[in-house]
Amino acid sequence: MRKPIVAPSLLAADFGQLAEEIRALEAAGADWLHCDIMDGVFVPNISFGLPVMESIRATSHLPLDVHLMIVQPERYLPAFAEVGADILTFHWEATPHPDRLVRQIHALGKRAGIALNPATPVEVLMDILPEIDLVCLMSVNPGFGGQKFIPYVGHKVERLAELRLQAKAHALIEVDGGVSPETASLLPRADVLVAGSSIVKAPNKTQAIYELRRAWITATHDA
Ligand code: DX5
Ligand code: ZN
Repeated sequence: MRKPIVAPSLLAADFGQLAEEIRALEAAGADWLHCDIMDGVFVPNISFGLPVMESIRATSHLPLDVHLMIVQPERYLPAFAEVGADILTFHWEATPHPDRLVRQIHALGKRAGIALNPATPVEVLMDILPEIDLVCLMSVNPGFGGQKFIPYVGHKVERLAELRLQAKAHALIEVDGGVSPETASLLPRADVLVAGSSIVKAPNKTQAIYELRRAWITATHDA
């Protein structure tokens, strides 16, 4: 049976208790940890950077899925690789040279992802899709946790899954923003579900992850 990869976003964590939050997410069954890096330029908010990434790496062996919402991402790829990122995802909108960045990430020995803002069509990835490991489809405008899921992104997931079939590519399809049991059921062809508020802020994280997985599995097997 297909199961989604569940990647809680640490942006929703209490940073005063980050290690405890991470241990609770591991115990609750998180597959990856999603780390949102915001520079206050590409997005109108600043989150955390390299020292915090080092602490996250020191606390957990889970794959670290690093979502770079920064301008000139090429300047920081080696540093994020150095502090233990496993997947490095930059924004299509943040560089004129996505191909160069994918090569740079692979040369660093990491998996390469490209994130698309909600209004960027998935078709821009048609040629590069076989070269990358992950596509992050933003289902909110990046910058903040706790926003409402944008429904048209459901169609983008479908179109990207079709493109992937045609291209015989294997990039994982990740959806990020406003993901909850209700919205996960609209995403049967997604592979990775990022969820901040609906998991990390839930009173019972184990139950929140279970419900997210169950909603997706039910929708996927009915689809
Ligand atoms: C938004 C971030 C997301 C965010 C998701 O800019 O990229 O990863 O933390 O948070 P929720 O699940 O609360 O929308
Ligand atoms: Zn993110």
